[in-house]
Amino acid sequence: MIIDEGQLELIADGLAEHGFAVVDDFLSQEEMIALRNCLLRLKNEGHFKKAGIGKQSSLQIREDIRGDYIHWLERDTPHVPIQGYMNRLEELSSYLNRSLYLGLKDFEIHFAYYPEGTFYQKHSDRFKQTDHRIISVVLYLNTDWQEGYGGQLVLYPEQQSEVKITPIAGRLACFRSEILHEVLAATHERQSVTGWLVNKPVGLGL
Ligand code: OGA
Ligand code: MN
Repeated sequence: MIIDEGQLELIADGLAEHGFAVVDDFLSQEEMIALRNCLLRLKNEGHFKKAGIGKQSSLQIREDIRGDYIHWLERDTPHVPIQGYMNRLEELSSYLNRSLYLGLKDFEIHFAYYPEGTFYQKHSDRFKQTDHRIISVVLYLNTDWQEGYGGQLVLYPEQQSEVKITPIAGRLACFRSEILHEVLAATHERQSVTGWLVNKPVGLGL
């Protein structure tokens, strides 16, 4: 097992009881920095593109809705820190299958960065074209992030008050993908690995 057992339990309990969970230090400091360095390198090499709304043919760029840039990560990535993170997502999925019977089969992940001042308006990650997304999983990579920078993830679970999550490095936010949420604008660039645990194998034209 790579993930701390206590963290796995916290995530499963949070998802079962509230529909979300937040754990800190999901990666060691060294692993987090290595993953962050991968993001910075891929960004410097020009691999990111502006994120859109909708899928494939209906994809549109709408800066009034979301202003982030993304780079999808493939299973055969040569980057060891990314492989390590993927191994953790696999372990998390099988734990959630055993404890919550979620029927998770695969995951999809991308690096994301939000330039200063950009945001992602209130939305759900699960709609007609993405109904295979069961759990959203976001790992933040923002070293030295201050509360006053903004950039919180705000969750709007039904029948509960909203929850604001500060995107500090090493923090993992997990939530049921149908929960409405938004990303607030920040005064500094905001970086993450964003992913979804899905109930169908990906790469089959989903
Ligand atoms: C998303 C998203 C949340 C975050 O990419 O769909 O909602 O905190 N991200 O970055
Ligand atoms: Mn989302």
